[in-house]
Amino acid sequence: MAEISVAVYPGSFDPITNGHIDLVTRTLRIFDQVVIAIARNQDKGGALFSVEERMATVRKVFEGEERVRVDSFEGLLVDYAEAQAAKVVIRGLRAVSDFEYEFQMATMNRRLKPNLETFFMMTGESSFYISSRLVKEVAGLGGDVAAFVPDVVLDQLRKKFPRS
Ligand code: PNS
Repeated sequence: MAEISVAVYPGSFDPITNGHIDLVTRTLRIFDQVVIAIARNQDKGGALFSVEERMATVRKVFEGEERVRVDSFEGLLVDYAEAQAAKVVIRGLRAVSDFEYEFQMATMNRRLKPNLETFFMMTGESSFYISSRLVKEVAGLGGDVAAFVPDVVLDQLRKKFPRS
């Protein structure tokens, strides 16, 4: 039987945006399974949504899509990816400004686990300026973020920031 190809898509997803969703949808054209892996290490205060809230939200977004798994992880990404039998980590690249950080991470991860590859996908042209950080900032200041996030996230943001 052919081996199932698994890609891990790690990140903070605080909250998930339409840019992330676009990336997952395109990754599913290439890999059999995508594991959306929410990093717990990043959660040392400062997050708007708890890891549990984010997991529940991402599950709602991909409800019915059996090839998407939602999980959280602690510790090194390379160890987590190995435990998931993933050969590939997916990361999105929006702009040149993302490149240095992503290049450092991918290189460090390859030094740690040479068999694990990082695949970069260019963010879709309608999402290249969207980031979770900007979505939170705009929503917090009363701006309309309906075009940038799925409805489930919009509802949550409206609860957190009644002015948005
Ligand atoms: O969406 P983000 O916040 O840019 O994601 C960053 C993330 C979670 C992919 C990165 O910080 C990570 O892999 N954290 C896990 C800990 C780890 O492996 N650190 C070494 C990275 S070289």
